[in-house]
Amino acid sequence: MRTHYCGLIDESLIGQTVTLCGWVDTLRLQSHVAFIDLRDHEGIVQLVAERDDAETFKVASELGYEYVLQAEGVVRERQSVNDKLATGKVEVLLKRVGILNRSAPLPFHAHENPGEDVRLKYRYLDLRRPEMQKMQRTRIKLVQALRHWLDAKGFQDLETPILTKATPEGARDFLVPARLHPGEFYALPQSPQLFKQILMMAGFDRYYQIARCFRDEALRADRQLEFTQLDMEFAFVRERDVQDTVEAMIRDVFKQVIDVDLAAPFPRMTWAEAMRRYGSDKPDLRIDLELVDVAGQVKDSGFKVFTDWATDPEGRVAALRVPGGAAMSRKQLDDYAAHAAKFGAKGLAHARLGDNGEIASPIAKFFDEAGFAALLRQVGAQPGDMVFFGAGQYAAVSDFMGALRLKAGKEFGLVAEDWRPLWVTDFPMFEWDEEAQRYVALHHPFTAPAVDSIDDLRANARTAVSRGYDMVLNGNEIGGGSIRIHRSEMQSAVFELLGIGAEEAELKFGFLLEALKYGAPPHGGIAFGIDRIAALMAGTESIRDVIPFPKTTTAQCLMTGAPSPIPDSQLVELHVQVRPRTE
Ligand code: AMO
Ligand code: AMP
Repeated sequence: MRTHYCGLIDESLIGQTVTLCGWVDTLRLQSHVAFIDLRDHEGIVQLVAERDDAETFKVASELGYEYVLQAEGVVRERQSVNDKLATGKVEVLLKRVGILNRSAPLPFHAHENPGEDVRLKYRYLDLRRPEMQKMQRTRIKLVQALRHWLDAKGFQDLETPILTKATPEGARDFLVPARLHPGEFYALPQSPQLFKQILMMAGFDRYYQIARCFRDEALRADRQLEFTQLDMEFAFVRERDVQDTVEAMIRDVFKQVIDVDLAAPFPRMTWAEAMRRYGSDKPDLRIDLELVDVAGQVKDSGFKVFTDWATDPEGRVAALRVPGGAAMSRKQLDDYAAHAAKFGAKGLAHARLGDNGEIASPIAKFFDEAGFAALLRQVGAQPGDMVFFGAGQYAAVSDFMGALRLKAGKEFGLVAEDWRPLWVTDFPMFEWDEEAQRYVALHHPFTAPAVDSIDDLRANARTAVSRGYDMVLNGNEIGGGSIRIHRSEMQSAVFELLGIGAEEAELKFGFLLEALKYGAPPHGGIAFGIDRIAALMAGTESIRDVIPFPKTTTAQCLMTGAPSPIPDSQLVELHVQVRPRTE
């Protein structure tokens, strides 16, 4: 239907006749001439219809936005060059134009960005916008580059089932009723974790898959119900084998896709250090601010909250300096306190340093003057700074002070224009769940502990470190993996510590425990969040922008209306009865 793409018409074609197809992007009708910007997936070119050519001029004057055209004309030099367009030096003088389809009046125009709800409802119109086209293409390039890299290195692309048995990654499962087995369900995979491990046991050595994963969890800008992983597994490896390989891969694709040189090698940090310095297990190293532990400085003050936590072995008192933060208004300060509270703070103390170093702080009264000045010196506070103080349980303080660090970093322009990858390692093996009174796995239950024996693990469960690792980039966890347990007895012991009894373990993971008995090789791997990497590369905050058809944060598809009720007849067929909602 066409000879060229609109966006690729250039001076080399001057004098040639071209046939183009696309959408009417903008229209300017004048008495003797009509200008039509025609858009296809390569870009925009200006078409011109002159009154002398009565037939084309008539069609041109009947057009509307987003009409679909097939247009034939001659490329010529443009009189008023448009520097904003790649095709801005030329235009196409129309000889013949056909309307392939009309468009109803638009809910929004291709150059507008209305609310996200409208965009998601009319996603096809949204995706026509050049900005959205560009972001999808970044994702396409990313996946292409990854596949190319992995194929060249001998990784084998194998598929794993979507209708399967639950694979826990810490979220709820999506379930599918099995029509042929009344009362039984398939689970959609939260990841291909167990299948990729079994592929290693099956002798495949190096595996990858661009795999869709399903997790019924609370949605955010960086989380979807279904998302895509680059999933990888390696047989006969230790941590560094996996890490060095995938680090080289990530560096290569960043260079290839967005021409960015990432540090070589990536810095490494233990989980404990990340929590201590940045209050996060995925620190954004672009922000040059660190939490400072001040328990030693405050333990003898008159402020009971501080002295209590400063002397509690599970407590933490930490300070955060915000350069230039003294200019904060009362309202801003309240905003920071509210933000901290959202992350578990019971209070947020502050000290403001005036331009001449004068100190204003509601907690100054609990210290002698020299002591308070020494405290602020330790934090590195300068005139014009604000200093926040948090006290409480170690994890809570790390969390909320870490959250304040990010907020202050953004609001005070302290986020460097840079790419700061790192590895976070030495995660705790377990977290103690107060409510359930049991351990939960910090990674997943198949991650190997960094101990030699089962006895050692049982004796030191609370402090045991795992062989898991995360790749972090600019404050985003872009990948996570581990060396796996490859012995049946260790796997059973970990299940037991997680409160999964022998019977339950057999029911849920019997196939894994069985497979581990027949010569399972040592193995390990990692999975990357393709959506998150694509969003970072495309420079957007939300992974929804790099997913053609995402769900809203209320877990709906506004275009199709999913989820939706199904007819009773279908329920009957599936042997499913719907219960009324209970609170
Ligand atoms: P994990 O659960 O850490 O590990 O997931 C790996 C990576 O997938 C991305 N990711 C998500 N992206 C979008 N929406 C979500 N809801 C979402 N959840 C996770 C993140 C994350 O780093 N089986 C293990 C991997 C392994 O051990 O090899 C796993 O799934 O970028
Ligand atoms: P109060 O004397 O209770 O008014 O507290 C003095 C200051 O300490 C206030 O700014 C409180 O917000 C703050 N504060 C109270 N509890 C904590 C805490 N756990 N961590 C940090 N600051 C706190």
